Amino acid sequence: MLLKGKKVVVVGGSSGIGLSTAEMAKREGADVIIASRNVERLDAVADRLNAIAIPADVTSDDSVAKLFRNCGPVDHVVVTAAQLRTGPFKTVSMEDVRATMESKFWGAWRVAKSADIRPGGSLTLVSGYLSIRPRPNSAIISVANGALESLARALALELAPVRVNAVSPGIIDTPIRAAMPEAARREMLAQTAAKLPVGRVGVGEDVARQILAFMTIGFATGSIVYLDGGGLVT
Ligand SMILES: NC(=O)c1ccc[n+]([C@@H]2O[C@H](COP(=O)([O-])OP(=O)(O)OC[C@H]3O[C@@H](n4cnc5c(N)ncnc54)[C@H](OP(=O)(O)O)[C@@H]3O)[C@@H](O)[C@H]2O)c1
Repeated sequence: MLLKGKKVVVVGGSSGIGLSTAEMAKREGADVIIASRNVERLDAVADRLNAIAIPADVTSDDSVAKLFRNCGPVDHVVVTAAQLRTGPFKTVSMEDVRATMESKFWGAWRVAKSADIRPGGSLTLVSGYLSIRPRPNSAIISVANGALESLARALALELAPVRVNAVSPGIIDTPIRAAMPEAARREMLAQTAAKLPVGRVGVGEDVARQILAFMTIGFATGSIVYLDGGGLVT
């Protein structure tokens, strides 16, 4: 088992990519702590995985500091937590774009600042392919993802010997689109899949495997991996 005896914290571990990462880390023998806001959902997942649940909100300095005080020294930290608000550049509200940065970018910043990661351990940030393949109505998401990728590279220097990397996923079928009408969601995923060289969209486990690679390859730091089913070459 690749992570036997290692302590792994997944911030955003109750759903999607974070949940797949927590499951995989657990299968590889890690002691896993998951953190997110909705306590009921968090506790249910923690019970199922035999993980520890610590409620936390990445938009709060105090909440993130308290999370890592409770965790103590750890080996690997992953941040998948984010709630994104976007819209057409000219009309999207400042409140919405600030909320996106507060959650996705400053949330990861707070985690990086508060986590006590042992030497040789790792921090993995999850950005997104919009960083380098922008789409209309998503400028703030491109910006947040680009900033996260820059942060990963900067922290790989500054936090060494802790290793810092980012995975930048393409379209992954997770509950992140739960608010979309189901038929429209399925149609969007099918259309995306048809355009990709791999013929399918991603699943949480695809990204989790990359995150576990970052945890376990001691030579990996300052790396940004675009994992998108070939989206960037189409
Ligand atoms: N899925 C995709 O297609 C895709 C593509 C590119 C990039 N990404 C990025 O990958 C990351 C994970 O996405 P996902 O698809 O796994 O999303 P998801 O299924 O919606 O999971 C998000 C997780 O983050 C938690 N969370 C959200 N806001 C939080 C906050 N303020 N504080 C603490 N926890 C918070 C959620 O739990 P609570 O709501 O209970 O807090 C949940 O556990 C995100 O950064 C997303 O932008 C996803």
